[in-house]
Amino acid sequence: MMQQVRGWVRDARHIAVLTGAGMSAESGVPTFRDAQTGLWAQFDPQQLATEEAFRANPSRVWDWYAFRRELIAKVQPNAGHEALAAFAQRHPGRLTLITQNVDGLHQRAGSPGVLALHGNIFEDKWLDRPGPCCNAEAAARGSPPYCARCGNLLRPDVVWFGELLPPQAMAAAEEAARICEMMLVVGTSGVVYPAAGLARAAAGRVVVVNPEPTELDDVADAVLRGGAAHILPQLLEED
Ligand code: APR
Repeated sequence: MMQQVRGWVRDARHIAVLTGAGMSAESGVPTFRDAQTGLWAQFDPQQLATEEAFRANPSRVWDWYAFRRELIAKVQPNAGHEALAAFAQRHPGRLTLITQNVDGLHQRAGSPGVLALHGNIFEDKWLDRPGPCCNAEAAARGSPPYCARCGNLLRPDVVWFGELLPPQAMAAAEEAARICEMMLVVGTSGVVYPAAGLARAAAGRVVVVNPEPTELDDVADAVLRGGAAHILPQLLEED
């Protein structure tokens, strides 16, 4: 099966890749729910990752993201992230990388033009529409930082439950799914839409890379059972 899929990679002019939390498992990034340790064990992440929770208790949500940022800043991209970045660098324009992950590891591995559907945990944006006084670089220090003139708060630039995905990234991801001869679906359980819908909309062959069964196995033309850091280098390296 690996040889057959390697042949599909070789012959595909456009490859779309959709990754999820499992992509970063071998880097040691705790998944959304595993990170709930110590002080944070008492909170359900889905109760924290919402605009409502942030407005109700800005410092609690801000501190939770600071805790997660600290965890993620300590880990490194794994061989799977590096294999995807190396392929994209060898074949400019042939691979479109779409990720649900907010950990920034694809970007740190050197993948160009990453479509980060759920945002990036290391970036901030204003909670309310910024006025001319709102300058993130000059924000007053605090948890969260804020605009000293109008009181606007900075928040993590990630997609919270109930929020829309960034329209441009989603449009580019849908286009990549529409034109691809092949889509690699790596490290995602395939239960969260609209991201998971991209695999169902893929024009080309779908290949799932996951050690466990997923909700997208039924649309797969091939399933490679294993970890991303082990399988992707084998799949993408060239003779
Ligand atoms: N290599 C590849 N896949 C792996 C590995 C690995 N080493 N280890 C685990 N997995 C798989 C699991 O089998 C599972 O199918 O990664 C998947 C992780 O699934 P989820 O935790 O549901 O993560 P994801 O699919 O990215 O969740 C989608 O939901 O939690 C929200 O917004 C959050 O972006 C996230 C979204």
